[in-house]
Amino acid sequence: MARLSPENVQRAKELIALYPQPRSALIPILHVAQEQDGWLKPDAMAHVAELVGVSAAEVYGTASFYDMFFTHPVGRYLVSVCTNLACMINGGYELLEHAEQRLGVAPGGTTEDGLFTLEDVECIAYCGGAPCLAVNWRFFGPLTHDDFDRLVDDLAEGRLDEEVPPHGTLCRVRRQAPAATSPARSTAETAPS
Ligand code: FES
Repeated sequence: MARLSPENVQRAKELIALYPQPRSALIPILHVAQEQDGWLKPDAMAHVAELVGVSAAEVYGTASFYDMFFTHPVGRYLVSVCTNLACMINGGYELLEHAEQRLGVAPGGTTEDGLFTLEDVECIAYCGGAPCLAVNWRFFGPLTHDDFDRLVDDLAEGRLDEEVPPHGTLCRVRRQAPAATSPARSTAETAPS
């Protein structure tokens, strides 16, 4: 899928209605687009630009600035191994090396089956679980190398589907908030579809 689906256009319009200016909804709508496709496709970013009334270049500039947005394909599971201080002294680099060997890719790479993308990251604020990693921003640790292998097996077999949704899904609970009643709402309602 490239442009936003009709359902996601509706979600985008609901998000726009929450803000005084449509462009203020840019980041939440980018998350919707990333949830749809797993990463931000050029056509989806162009569609988001139309919806919030900014240029495609502004959308790309925002998307490329933040670590949580990806403007290139990402596997179903983004495996982010921390090698910052607490993890480093507890075997973070060894865990990363093991992950590279097990998955057969270097940091930044994606397995041929499209299931796993590996990355080397700074502190993910889970230092008490060092050495640790995040999969689609869900934390796991401390992990031995055997633990890592079991985690990869469980993910590949779908045994953690409830716990770890596909990349791009921030939350399965939808925000339920009344639409804004400010004059800006009428602007949002007339935004291009
Ligand atoms: S140093 Fe690894 S989570 Fe903080």
